[in-house]
Amino acid sequence: MNKPSFRKSTVGRKVLAAVTGMILMAFIVVHLAGNLTLFIPDDGALFNSYAHHLEKMGPLLYAAEFALIVAFLIHIVMAVSVRKSQLDARPERYAVYASKGGPSKQTLSSRSMLVTGILLLLFIPLHVWMFKFNQAQAMPMVDVNGEQVKDLYLVVLTAFKMPQKAVAYVAVMLMLGLHLRHGFWSSFQSLGALAPKWVPAFYSAGLVIAILLAGGFIVMPLYLWQFGPDPETLRAAVATIGL
Ligand code: HEM
Repeated sequence: MNKPSFRKSTVGRKVLAAVTGMILMAFIVVHLAGNLTLFIPDDGALFNSYAHHLEKMGPLLYAAEFALIVAFLIHIVMAVSVRKSQLDARPERYAVYASKGGPSKQTLSSRSMLVTGILLLLFIPLHVWMFKFNQAQAMPMVDVNGEQVKDLYLVVLTAFKMPQKAVAYVAVMLMLGLHLRHGFWSSFQSLGALAPKWVPAFYSAGLVIAILLAGGFIVMPLYLWQFGPDPETLRAAVATIGL
């Protein structure tokens, strides 16, 4: 009998889902780190400057974006197909879900991976459209260190001053937290990288990482909504005091 190729074998698909999941998580860490500049009370100067420097990377940025899209697509296809194989192999659902402890770790987070994954899949194009490509209004520009740069701070601030958008972001970030909580631990497990004695430590680390990453993204819209400057007067005030 022919052996299935690596990509088609369950182990191969799990490994591909795990590796691409780790790449996506690395992006989330970098994205959060950059976005933390939104908390600096400098009317967006550092955030706009950071986004501008990213944009100036040109072909390097396009290559990173391309790699991210490929990783994202592989992650979805592999994760969905592994889940499908598991369901095909065990079609009858459990009447009551309970964590078996040990390596299976059945939790709300593990059982909702498909649902939270689909919600993130719907969120990401909307999010990128909202903050990167939406040309409904011309992109506002602002002076940073004598250079005209995109005023992305104003775009993000204006969005999060709308309670419905701030609250929707918090809800999606909770989904992200649930996804990461199981995803982190499970990717190491799929790579066979965990000796049994390390399982509890990585399982707990998954919780800490999910809280830190999702928590960072949750506080952002809430902070700007409640404490951010008024977008209508922000740039006018800056112009008056001659910055
Ligand atoms: C409160 C939370 C977030 C804020 C304020 C935020 C802000 C932004 C902004 C301003 C951009 C446009 C950057 C630019 O054009 O240079 C962007 C792009 C992007 N964001 Fe977010 N983001 C948040 C959460 C997330 C999350 C949780 C994810 C993924 C799960 C994500 C994925 C992306 C992606 C994929 C891009 C496009 C990157 C690129 O094309 O270079 N964001 N985000």
